[in-house]
Amino acid sequence: MSKILEIKNLKKNYHTIQKETCAVKDFSMELEEGEFVAIVGPSGCGKSTILSILSGLEEKSSGTISYGDKKIGYMLQTDALFEWLTILENCLLGLRIKKELTEEKKDYVISLLKKYGLGDFLDSYPNHLSGGMRQRVALIRTLATKPDILLADEPFSALDYQSRLTISEDVFRILKEEKKSLILVTHDIAEAVSMGNRVIVLTKRPAMIKKEYEIVLEHPSTPIENRKDKAFSYYYEEIWKEIDHE
Ligand SMILES: Nc1ncnc2c1ncn2[C@@H]1O[C@H](COP(=O)(O)OP(=O)(O)OP(=O)(O)O)[C@@H](O)[C@H]1O
Ligand SMILES: [Mg+2]
Repeated sequence: MSKILEIKNLKKNYHTIQKETCAVKDFSMELEEGEFVAIVGPSGCGKSTILSILSGLEEKSSGTISYGDKKIGYMLQTDALFEWLTILENCLLGLRIKKELTEEKKDYVISLLKKYGLGDFLDSYPNHLSGGMRQRVALIRTLATKPDILLADEPFSALDYQSRLTISEDVFRILKEEKKSLILVTHDIAEAVSMGNRVIVLTKRPAMIKKEYEIVLEHPSTPIENRKDKAFSYYYEEIWKEIDHE
């Protein structure tokens, strides 16, 4: 495996008129190609800030981020589909806005929609789809620009427990099949352990790395199966103890 992302001594201070907030103090990590890393930490510790900086939505205060010529894609918390656009148009929108839409890219998006069970819904509108299907559309929209690294910030948090399980299973399979790398931010330790090759535990704000776990399951499989693995509850309990609960 080769390294596709390196973050060194990342720091972020937010400035408002009233005060300065240090959200991220000294955060360093590497990501290997094909690796899924989950980041967990107490609420408000700076998790979203790290992803916002990686995706270019926020400026860093200091530190270095390098990912060569690799591309980064950002998956939002809600599916944010436009109800008045068809499924296909929703998926093409990003490319259209960036003026990057070509016949070839359109064919690629259609092939993804077909491959992942949405072939019959290209011309349907989002309100005809189940929550799970909508989330799959949102993922394919993110994949349309062919990112190498996917950033996901609590991507399943708006869903009920049952849907979270099936959708995390879906997202996991699709990203593995398409050979993407993932940085997943989540509150949910079970989700982190069942999806990540590695789990990074952050301190209270400002975010620094408190501990890192290499997740070695007896029979690594997909998220739902991983939850049944013998080693799963060991990691769950260790990480739970490590997080600074308020
Ligand atoms: N744009 C902003 N301007 C000023 N302060 C901000 C801004 N965005 C975040 N913060 C502050 O930075 C800190 C970290 O916020 P962040 O959203 O990164 O945490 P988080 O770990 O993602 O939280 P949560 O668990 O609630 O998702 C918080 O104290 C927050 O209030
Ligand atoms: Mg957040």
